[in-house]
Amino acid sequence: MHEAAPVNPWVALAYLIAGVCFIVALRGLSSPATSRRGNRFGMAGMLIAVVTTLVTHLPGENPCDALAATGGLGFCTDGFIVSWPSAMEILAAIAIGGVVGIVMARKIKMTDMPQLVAGFHSLVGLAAVLVGVAAYLNPQAFGIAFPAASEFAGLILPVSRIELGLGVAIGAITFSGSVIAFLKLNGNMGGAPIMLPGRHVINLGTLAPILGLIAYLTIEIQAPEWVFWVVLALSFIIGFLLIIPIGGADMPVVVSMLNSYSGWAAAAMGFTLGNTAMIITGALVGSSGAILSYIMCRAMNRSFISVIAGGFGGDSGGSAAGAAKTDRPWKRGSAEDAAFLMQQAEQVIIVPGYGMAVAQAQHVLREMGDKLKEHGVRVKYAIHPVAGRMPGHMNVLLAEANVPYDEVFELEDINSEFAQTDVAFIIGANDVVNPAAKTDKSSPIYGMPVFDVNKAKTVLFIKRSMGGVGYAGVDNDVFYQDNTMMLLADAKKMVEEIVKSLD
Ligand code: TAP
Repeated sequence: MHEAAPVNPWVALAYLIAGVCFIVALRGLSSPATSRRGNRFGMAGMLIAVVTTLVTHLPGENPCDALAATGGLGFCTDGFIVSWPSAMEILAAIAIGGVVGIVMARKIKMTDMPQLVAGFHSLVGLAAVLVGVAAYLNPQAFGIAFPAASEFAGLILPVSRIELGLGVAIGAITFSGSVIAFLKLNGNMGGAPIMLPGRHVINLGTLAPILGLIAYLTIEIQAPEWVFWVVLALSFIIGFLLIIPIGGADMPVVVSMLNSYSGWAAAAMGFTLGNTAMIITGALVGSSGAILSYIMCRAMNRSFISVIAGGFGGDSGGSAAGAAKTDRPWKRGSAEDAAFLMQQAEQVIIVPGYGMAVAQAQHVLREMGDKLKEHGVRVKYAIHPVAGRMPGHMNVLLAEANVPYDEVFELEDINSEFAQTDVAFIIGANDVVNPAAKTDKSSPIYGMPVFDVNKAKTVLFIKRSMGGVGYAGVDNDVFYQDNTMMLLADAKKMVEEIVKSLD
């Protein structure tokens, strides 16, 4: 960070307000009921941070020179004052980025969200790398060079060398890792883990020189330029190597981990740029991403280390490992049967999963819930923490369809109720209701907490075919239970039929 740089107290105050907005935003995003408000706080915070940064760097008198001249107290974000042409370039870039962002946000399908997020992280990583490279090539402009009077005039200050080394390394890992995550999630690359022989040795052999060279770069003020470029190149390579052995099922954990990395890269660059807002934002993103990765690992009963070590999870479509054994007897039902059974019920628990998102059946599902309530049935929605393909996937869809929040329950709050429930209505879920997670030690989902839907009096199971499997690619014994009725159809079409029958 800039040495003893005085900072304008108004700038500090604006960044503080932006930081508080980000914290309130994170708080709001923790519940669907407050998430819209949280988003607004996040947008307001970002607007304050961007405008403050631009205003303090527009052509004019450098506030730090003025402050320093008076020997005044306080601190100012010193640094470079951009020329008017480059200010125009910055505004044009913001306008182009803003338009691209708005178009993408409007067009993107909910099911494509994970790859969009991975794509965004790659850009954050790349931005951190570009800022780091610019600062390395022109340290005076960034105020991170020894002063002219010093014997090391023009060379980068040691503390800035650590920030630069770590910042570009984390940024490059985030970039190449996120590009691979994007390609896997988007289906441009197979979701199956790619295991290089001796990959742990290769990874260690790449990581150790990165750390060693960053240490050398920090200690040796006159370190040759190639050291910086080698750190950068090896970091791009290790990002790639770390992500290719990770399978499709673990990819969302990885995306959240890369989210965390992108935050730390931004925070490191915040130090280089002497920008408090960036340090705060980066630290918030870094820590919240790390916490989210931990929560997801716990919900899937996977250790964080085993995710990072890679190797679990099949193709995004589910591997054929345990594909449904259709030769076992099972019962098929119709929409009329389902409507009749649910009308008679005292309580129905609806378990949505990935298939509901694919079919976009959430609106008609809420309609079905409303109709059942008109018939005096108690309706509850049970949400598994990893149902769907991203954290909060089902919460978002149900909120979009205006399902009342007090009808939506988390796994631990509702699981004990299935045993006293008349109908468990499973719509496009599979792995999250698979008892093999509790009984079959050889199953890839063994250990994952699941809904005990098999304990309900009747189980209604919507999916398209008996051959289709869930993400983990394993068969589900619930299909073949005496009390299960399979409703084979697209989820939206089937629920529309049920609603008609309820009328
Ligand atoms: P899945 O186990 O993936 O099952 C989805 C089910 O939906 C399948 O049985 C599929 O069968 C059915 N389906 C697909 N399209 C449909 C449609 N249009 N209409 C009706 N049914 C349809 O889903 P889940 O139970 O939500 O489990 C999520 C899985 O993803 C877990 O294994 C979890 O570990 C993994 N995962 C999730 C996350 C997050 S954060 N959510 C993160 C990492 C991993 P058919 O093909 O026969 O229709």
